[in-house]
Amino acid sequence: MLEVRNLKKFYGKKEVLKGISFEVHRGEVVSLIGLSGAGKTTILRCLNDLEKCHEGYITIEGDSLIKQEGDIFSYSSKEEIKRYKRKIGMVFQNFNLFPHLNVIENIIEGPVSVLKMDKNEAEKKAGELLKRINLEEKAKEYPFQLSGGEKQRIAIVRACAMNPKVLCFDEPTSALDPDSKRQVGEIIKELAKKDNRAVLIITHDMDFAKNISDRIIKIREGKIV
Ligand SMILES: Nc1ncnc2c1ncn2[C@@H]1O[C@H](COP(=O)(O)OP(=O)(O)OP(=O)(O)O)[C@@H](O)[C@H]1O
Ligand SMILES: [Mg+2]
Repeated sequence: MLEVRNLKKFYGKKEVLKGISFEVHRGEVVSLIGLSGAGKTTILRCLNDLEKCHEGYITIEGDSLIKQEGDIFSYSSKEEIKRYKRKIGMVFQNFNLFPHLNVIENIIEGPVSVLKMDKNEAEKKAGELLKRINLEEKAKEYPFQLSGGEKQRIAIVRACAMNPKVLCFDEPTSALDPDSKRQVGEIIKELAKKDNRAVLIITHDMDFAKNISDRIIKIREGKIV
């Protein structure tokens, strides 16, 4: 589903990604592990078009972000990038919820403003998603009223509301207690296995990675080892 080939990226003269290649299939959970500074976050930021890449090929089911033909590297057309970006979603380490919007408003913001979904329909879908994670009663609360684990689950639901085929998580459990960690692990597995998405996770937690992943990819100094 997600295909990454020979991805390279520089910060100034420093090469931080030195030709990364991997795939994540539908229904699969893949974890990226590696020491601090290895390049894990940079990979996710490149995949989500938050950083510029300098070489390689990234595609999701026929729509590419970047491509490489021989020596010629290019970004895809605006339209193709737009289609690509509709297929990928990211849950950030610090959740990135909008502080001035309540839970339901946070979830429907993307579907209404980007996908042009009808507001009532978006609210109905958001309610169903909240039910799945047992947080229906938090619909009208604001982010500051939620625990870390609740914020993480809301951030996951918000990403799912856009119905991406590929979902990326940067350190989804770093701020969580063991119970919340287990819950988030179950949700992530379900997103892959039940909803048939491709899931890509960065984690420092080896037990968590072993528990939820089909495959683990180790990154060292910008390369897969
Ligand atoms: N904006 C930036 N400008 C310059 N160098 C950067 C920038 N962001 C990251 N780097 C460098 O790129 C390399 C990879 O960083 P990255 O954040 O991808 O590591 P990471 O594997 O996610 O580490 P961690 O586990 O600590 O989150 C590091 O050497 C880092 O210093
Ligand atoms: Mg990181």
